[in-house]
Amino acid sequence: MNKIHPVVHQAKKIIVQPVILAIESSCDDTSVAVWAHGRVVSNVVSSQLMHQNYGGIVPEVASRAHQEAILPVTEAALEKAGISLTEVHAIAVTAGPGLLGSLIVGMSFAKGLALSLDVPLIAVHHMEAHILAHFAEPPHPSFPFLCLTVSGGHTQIVQVNDPLRMELLGETLDDAAGEAFDKSGKLLGLGYPAGPEIDRLAQSGSPRYPFPKPQIPGFDFSFSGMKTAIRYFIEGNQRQDPDFIPNHLEDLCASIQYAIIEALMDKLEAAADATGIDQIALAGGVSANRGLREAAAHRASDKGWTLFVPRLEYCTDNAGMIAVAAYYKYLQGDFAGLDLSPAARLPLKRKTIMH
Ligand code: KG4
Ligand code: ZN
Repeated sequence: MNKIHPVVHQAKKIIVQPVILAIESSCDDTSVAVWAHGRVVSNVVSSQLMHQNYGGIVPEVASRAHQEAILPVTEAALEKAGISLTEVHAIAVTAGPGLLGSLIVGMSFAKGLALSLDVPLIAVHHMEAHILAHFAEPPHPSFPFLCLTVSGGHTQIVQVNDPLRMELLGETLDDAAGEAFDKSGKLLGLGYPAGPEIDRLAQSGSPRYPFPKPQIPGFDFSFSGMKTAIRYFIEGNQRQDPDFIPNHLEDLCASIQYAIIEALMDKLEAAADATGIDQIALAGGVSANRGLREAAAHRASDKGWTLFVPRLEYCTDNAGMIAVAAYYKYLQGDFAGLDLSPAARLPLKRKTIMH
C-alpha cells in the first residue's frame, strides 16, 4: 500500500522574494491570499453569512461552506494577483487554533496543493498571524511591542519580541471580548454578530449604566461575570418597564461597550507599565470597534504610546495575515510535514511577570 511519509519538504533553495499561496479557514471565513514581491498582492475573503440565521457559528455548516468556497476563492486570489499556480514557491495554511472541521478543509486542500506542486507546506498559528497582520503594510510597530488581540474567539495580550518569538502575557479565562459583545447583544435582541451593531448604536448613547469590572489578577481577562450582571440588570428593569430595552437601547449599548473596553484597556495599560513597552498594537475583529479605537488612542496620548491599528481588512480573519506570518517562517526554512494535523487549541507560550 502506498504510504505518504511524514517528510518535511525542504525547499530546493530559499528564495529571497518567494511567492506564497496562503489559506485561512479556521472559523467562518474562507480566505486565500498571494504573497509576492515582498507584499500581499491579493487577499480574497468569502464570509459565511448563513450563520446569522442560527445566532452563532454552526461548525458543521461552516466546514461544508469552506468546501464549496475554497476552490473559487483560490482561483480568485491567483487571478487578482496575476500569478499562476506554477509560480508558487510554498503553500501556507492555518494549523489552529480554530474549528477542527473548518481547519481540516483548508489543511487538506493545502496539502494537496503542496504535494502536487512539489513545494513546501508552512503551518501558521492563527493568533500569531493576527499579530503579524501589522506587517502587511506600513506603518509597522518596532520590536518589542505589545499586541492586544481581540476577536470572537480570543482575547490576548502578547509581547512580540520578533516575528517568530511571541510570549503570552494574559488571555481571557472564559468568554472572548467579541463573544462578550455578541452575547450581550443577544440579550438585547440584536442579531449575530452583535458587535458591529452595538458599536453603531453606542454612538448615539451614553454609558450611564455601570456594569462591574472583572476583578482578575495579572493580565488575564474574564467577561462571563459581566455578561451575567448585564442579564440581571436587564431582567430587573424589564420587570418595572417591559419596554426597557427598546426605550434605552442606545444607552445600554454604550454602557456594555464601555464596560468591555475599560476591562481591555486597564489590562493593556498594566501590561505596558509592567514591561515598559510603549509600542502598542491592536488586532482582531473587535479592533474595528470605534469606541475601542478611541479609548486606545486616548490612553496612547496619556501614556506616550505609539499606537498601531491595521486597516479593517487586516483586523478580521483573512489569509493576507497568514501570508505575512508564512513569509517569516519561509525565510527560516520552517516547514511542516504532510502529517501536519489541525489543532482546535494551540496555546502560545506564556511569560510570567511579577508585578
Ligand atoms: O477576528 P474576527 O473577525 O473573527 C474571529 O473571531 O476570529 O472577530 C469577530 C468578532 C465578532 O465577535 C464580532 O462581533 C466582533 O468581532 N466585531 C466587533 C465589531 N466588528 C466585529 N465587535 C465590536 N465592534 C465592532 N465594530
Ligand atoms: Zn481570528
